[in-house]
Amino acid sequence: MGLFGKWFRKLRVGAFTAEDMERMRADDDELPSGDNIPKHVAIIMDGNGRWAKMRGLPRIAGHHNGMKAVKRITKAADRVGVEVLTLYAFSTENWKRPKAEVEFLMKLPQEFLAIELEELIENNVQVRMMGDRGQLPDHTVAAVEEAVRRTAHNTGLILNFALNYGSRHEMLEAVKEVARQAAAGKVDPEALEEADFEKRLLSSGLPDPDLLIRTSGELRLSNFMLWQLAYSEFWFTDVFWPEFGERHLYDAIREYQRRARRYGGL
Ligand code: IPE
Ligand code: IPE
Ligand code: MG
Repeated sequence: MGLFGKWFRKLRVGAFTAEDMERMRADDDELPSGDNIPKHVAIIMDGNGRWAKMRGLPRIAGHHNGMKAVKRITKAADRVGVEVLTLYAFSTENWKRPKAEVEFLMKLPQEFLAIELEELIENNVQVRMMGDRGQLPDHTVAAVEEAVRRTAHNTGLILNFALNYGSRHEMLEAVKEVARQAAAGKVDPEALEEADFEKRLLSSGLPDPDLLIRTSGELRLSNFMLWQLAYSEFWFTDVFWPEFGERHLYDAIREYQRRARRYGGL
């Protein structure tokens, strides 16, 4: 581009230069739109450790950078109209990891919320958590519960953290509750419907995920939302979680929009 072109692009049209307008147009072209934006996106945020290892860093550096991706993707999901974003942060199996790593992971919610909670509140985001609170350290539960309480009346994006979450544990607990109530004569097992079971799951009140994303190249569910993902669309990428960006999310959503969901029909 010659000098004249450069000068022209700086010319203002109202509040914006031609350059601004061009950038905004390019931005908008990339944004998924239309009426079939997935309402609920669930993400298995994987690959923090390998991301760090590739850079000669300790695994916890990967978790730390993963937090930045959480912020980025929350904003990006909100921007295109996703209504629920569920993020798998810690599984019931992750307790098998070295104690120091587990302790670091248990401090992340506090660290994340100390920085981000005010902005989440400003942006009308409602924070939720699904998982077994019993086993978690008090400081972790306290941080999450403060965020849940302070955002409970927000009506925007639901940001749902799966923390100490395991799908088999969740379903077993639901079955136990039904069994107890049946034994007490409060529930007729023969009359039990899917909706009655669903309301006993930790995801109660949320729609099933439309789109499941897993990063880092692993092709498995690792005990994540086995009931709720029955008819979800899956999207996998080799990208490690700390480098997962808006563009990846939007690629996933655009591909989702091209798929035909048949639910067993034609
Ligand atoms: C995901 O990254 C975060 C958690 C499971 C807590 P990993 O820690 O599993 O990273 P990799 O899979 O070892 O690379
Ligand atoms: C799944 O990742 C759990 C989370 C992302 C929180 P893992 O890294 O624990 O899964 P596996 O062990 O590779 O199946
Ligand atoms: Mg992993």
